Amino acid sequence: MTETPKIAAELRRLLAHAHAPYSGVRVAAAVEGADGQVHFGVNVENAAYPQGLCAEASAIAGAVTAGARTLTRVWVASSLPDAIWPCGGCRQKILELAGPGCEVVALGPGGEAESRTIGQLLPLGFRLEPGAGHRV
Ligand code: THU
Repeated sequence: MTETPKIAAELRRLLAHAHAPYSGVRVAAAVEGADGQVHFGVNVENAAYPQGLCAEASAIAGAVTAGARTLTRVWVASSLPDAIWPCGGCRQKILELAGPGCEVVALGPGGEAESRTIGQLLPLGFRLEPGAGHRV
């Protein structure tokens, strides 16, 4: 299991890489695949606001690109004074790849960690059975 303090330190460092000139809110996220590999991402904002990317989405894209299919843990850190939890859209993105009991860890500025399962953060989340062909 990857150690949260190490991840917290790396996320704090990566906040400097976030591209957040519009909101000023820097976010960094890490996701752990079933093989124990950890992938990092930061938010990437855009002048066309809806084109901006959340840190979690950016970390998930990296993980999937590296071959991960199942997530066991997600960590989120930001430049805000309090810990933040993933936005609704990112909860859905996490759920898509979440393994059983997948944990989300919100990190405060001093590395304080609070954890919830994705099921707690997104109860009754929408899922489809892959390849089942959901036509009416
Ligand atoms: N943001 C994230 O990267 N992850 C979240 O879960 C919440 C919001 C980013 C999006 C935007 O760049 C900035 O934080 C302010 O909303």
